Amino acid sequence: MTTSLPPPLLFLSLSLLFLSLAQGLNQPQCDAPQQGSTLQVFHIYSPCSPFRPRKPLSWEESVLQMESKDQARLQYLASLVAGKSVVPIASGRQIMQSATYIVKAKIGTPPQTMLMAMDTNNDAAWIPCTGCVGCSSAVFSPVKSTTFKPLGCQAAQCKQVPNPTCPGGACSFNLTYGGSSIAANLSQDTMTLSTDPVPRYTFGCIQKATGSSLPPQGLLGLGRGPLSLLSQTQNLYKSTFSYCLPSFKTPNFSGSLRLGPIGQPKRIKYTQLLRNPRRSSLYYVNMVGIRVGRRIVDIPPNALAFNPTTGAGTIFDSGTVFTRLVAPAYIAVRDAFRRRVGNVTVSALGGFDTCYTTPIVAPTITFMFKGMNVSLPPDNLLIHSSSGSTTCLAMAAAPDNVNSVLNVIANMQQQNHRLLFDVPNSKLGVARERCT
Ligand SMILES: *[C@@H]1O[C@H](CO)[C@@H](O)[C@H](O)[C@H]1NC(C)=O
Ligand SMILES: *[C@@H]1O[C@H](CO)[C@@H](O)[C@H](O)[C@H]1NC(C)=O
Ligand SMILES: *[C@@H]1O[C@H](CO)[C@@H](O)[C@H](O)[C@H]1NC(C)=O
Ligand SMILES: *[C@@H]1O[C@H](CO)[C@@H](O)[C@H](O)[C@H]1NC(C)=O
Ligand SMILES: *[C@@H]1O[C@H](CO)[C@@H](O)[C@H](O)[C@H]1NC(C)=O
Repeated sequence: MTTSLPPPLLFLSLSLLFLSLAQGLNQPQCDAPQQGSTLQVFHIYSPCSPFRPRKPLSWEESVLQMESKDQARLQYLASLVAGKSVVPIASGRQIMQSATYIVKAKIGTPPQTMLMAMDTNNDAAWIPCTGCVGCSSAVFSPVKSTTFKPLGCQAAQCKQVPNPTCPGGACSFNLTYGGSSIAANLSQDTMTLSTDPVPRYTFGCIQKATGSSLPPQGLLGLGRGPLSLLSQTQNLYKSTFSYCLPSFKTPNFSGSLRLGPIGQPKRIKYTQLLRNPRRSSLYYVNMVGIRVGRRIVDIPPNALAFNPTTGAGTIFDSGTVFTRLVAPAYIAVRDAFRRRVGNVTVSALGGFDTCYTTPIVAPTITFMFKGMNVSLPPDNLLIHSSSGSTTCLAMAAAPDNVNSVLNVIANMQQQNHRLLFDVPNSKLGVARERCT
């Protein structure tokens, strides 16, 4: 990469390299050399993220903030399952931003770098563009790209966006995203992911945004709908990807998003990936039981059952922070957990109802899927205050004001695991891995 740089830039990048080496090994490499089809994944609170809070939040503040964003995310996921939203390019209505992880994508020629939110259960691809009214961060400048092309109303892709209109023949569309709404022009340009150029990538170029729940530099959906990244890169990546999310306890680490079948782990446990016809972008699996310690918890079967008609079941989601189980399942698991911890006073914190202010010895919790058991170590189950005085079980009951039975295995429970999505073979793999 550096060989083509003119000498002053070469010098600059070498100085930056030494600067970052001098800062010690704990500093993440925000600009690690790109390798193959693998992208670095950063937590939004990472030192590499421009979106980290300027004033660091206290532990309690950040936990409560993440938890309240989760509520909105769950409402959104449940609304999809309830079939209220049939919006191919973006997940549409009533979604709140809960971007926890970001990846670096390069758009245009020459490339402009955007830090986009990664979302496994969304097909959307949209980016704030020059002239955008109401966008909050860096924007993509189409005029600076020699490969940018607006799509007209006649383009086949225009039929796949919500509410298209044709001002001056351009394919424009509006959608809402949580408390925000956007107006965008459907556009094409080269998108470079790691070292892979994806020519004529179709995305929404945001012209107007209202509200404050948009990921500031765009959304990279990894869902499997018609205009999703997976569909558009079918030849390149064969609808296969994996990721490893770094723990938010170690914000200095980055994880990785590996696109395509090459370099994926061979030794990995699999369960079947299911598709719900009502919302085909969501990644469903068949969770058949939950174990606390060695004992299988007694959970009413309909709390876990996959039902393609109602959309009930279990999904893996990268955008929700804390795992949610439908109330009867959660209560059974929580009670079993409390029993194992023993005779210690339980307190609450925000939406968490199983917290302790004295040290505890926690049992492992195992999610049992068809063909695959995933046992979670304490780091995936417990949140500890930095002072060490409070520990909570990092799960909660799904909100009961939604009309669909949906269990969500969230990102805190996925951290330091590799999740492999093999869509052509309908398999989801999980293996423990230290994300760095
Ligand atoms: C993360 O990086 C910051 C800034 O360089 C440093 O102060 C801190 O000690 C690091 N934390 C860890 C856990 O390595
Ligand atoms: C988006 O479309 C509108 C209406 O055709 C046009 O005025 C505007 O310049 C377009 N913006 C971009 C970035 O193409
Ligand atoms: C889309 O949003 C734009 C800008 O806010 C507005 O002018 C336009 O009327 C909206 N179109 C539709 C179909 O809602
Ligand atoms: C639980 O602990 C409390 C206070 O330490 C004690 O009074 C009580 O007898 C204990 N109960 C059981 C069942 O061990
Ligand atoms: C998962 O654990 C259960 C209960 O301990 C066991 O019966 C089952 O065989 C395990 N499944 C796999 C795929 O290892």
